Amino acid sequence: MTERRAGIIGMGHSFPEGVLTNADLEKIVETSDEWITTRTGIKQRHKAAKDEYTSQFGTRAAQQALERSGLSAEEIDIIVCATTSPDQILPSTGALIQAELGATNAAGMDLFAACSGFIYGITMVESMIRTGQINYALVIGAEILTKYVDYTDRGTCVIFGDGAGAAVLGPVEGGKGILSTKIRSDGRYEEQLYARGGGTRLGTSHETIDNREHFFRMKGNEVFKVAVRSMADISNEMLEKAGYTTADVDLVIPHQANQRITEAVASRLDVPMDKVYSNIADMGNTSSASIPIAMDECIQAGRIREGSLVLLTAFGGGITWGASVIRF
Ligand code: UT7
Repeated sequence: MTERRAGIIGMGHSFPEGVLTNADLEKIVETSDEWITTRTGIKQRHKAAKDEYTSQFGTRAAQQALERSGLSAEEIDIIVCATTSPDQILPSTGALIQAELGATNAAGMDLFAACSGFIYGITMVESMIRTGQINYALVIGAEILTKYVDYTDRGTCVIFGDGAGAAVLGPVEGGKGILSTKIRSDGRYEEQLYARGGGTRLGTSHETIDNREHFFRMKGNEVFKVAVRSMADISNEMLEKAGYTTADVDLVIPHQANQRITEAVASRLDVPMDKVYSNIADMGNTSSASIPIAMDECIQAGRIREGSLVLLTAFGGGITWGASVIRF
């Protein structure tokens, strides 16, 4: 009898129609298309309209993932919505998406792990499925980060974009599924990427608003260095645990943080760039949504096929990081 593993059985993604190009940003902050392109690889990012919110895109991505999995919403046992830009403080975006989907037998929740949120989510539900505690899970990465970035801060506002990706996970056989997965964090580096306003520490006041404390702040170049090292190390660890080396991998899907980070991770892992997926030019950095959006694009384009060995790796505020090795 083969071991019961958790695998991905359907994916979907969604993003706002609105687009913010580098030329648009040149009119807002002191920057240039040339700087953004050479330092990040980003040419445009999607941006939600004022009346659009995170759960709308999370719901659309989840509906598509459900359709492709052949399951009904009632068959889902848990909905994990990884987001750092929830609709509101309470209730969770996961619960709001649950209601929209009609997933009446599920538990909906949010998971706060910044850009590593999708890998955190699949790592959590992987053991629940493998051990038989549940059968089917929806893991969603959904963000409207453009509502949390300060358009007077050129170090952050040029990077982030909006979107959502979703995966239905369930039991799979025949050597397929999540072969290894691991998540890590180190809160001592919390000052590398944070938003302090609105929480119990600072609260919300005229002062916090005037000081723009509700926006993200990032020490970009410090994040850069730790991100490359952490993603490469945990990727090697997970490949070894699964019994493979980078030479066996068909496709690497890193969190789309910055094209230079992606290239530096690929170089450390000694993987050629034609085996590394990037959509950052069109999507920017969509935090927890970047990996599931990229995975779904690869599935639709035939870059992930039955039998493909795929390595996912992410890094984000917290700091958090993780990697997963999956056989499709
Ligand atoms: O998603 C997970 C978490 N986030 C990340 O992984 C992001 C990681 N970090 C990065 O992607 C990069 O660090 C950034 C794209 C944010 C910044 O690029 P950098 O090459 O690290 O630039 P820097 O912060 O070291 O700044 C270099 C210069 C500075 O000017 P001076 O002091 O040398 O005169 C900045 O003020 O570039 C300046 N600069 C800009 N210039 C034009 C910073 N942002 C911009 C900009 N346009 N948008």
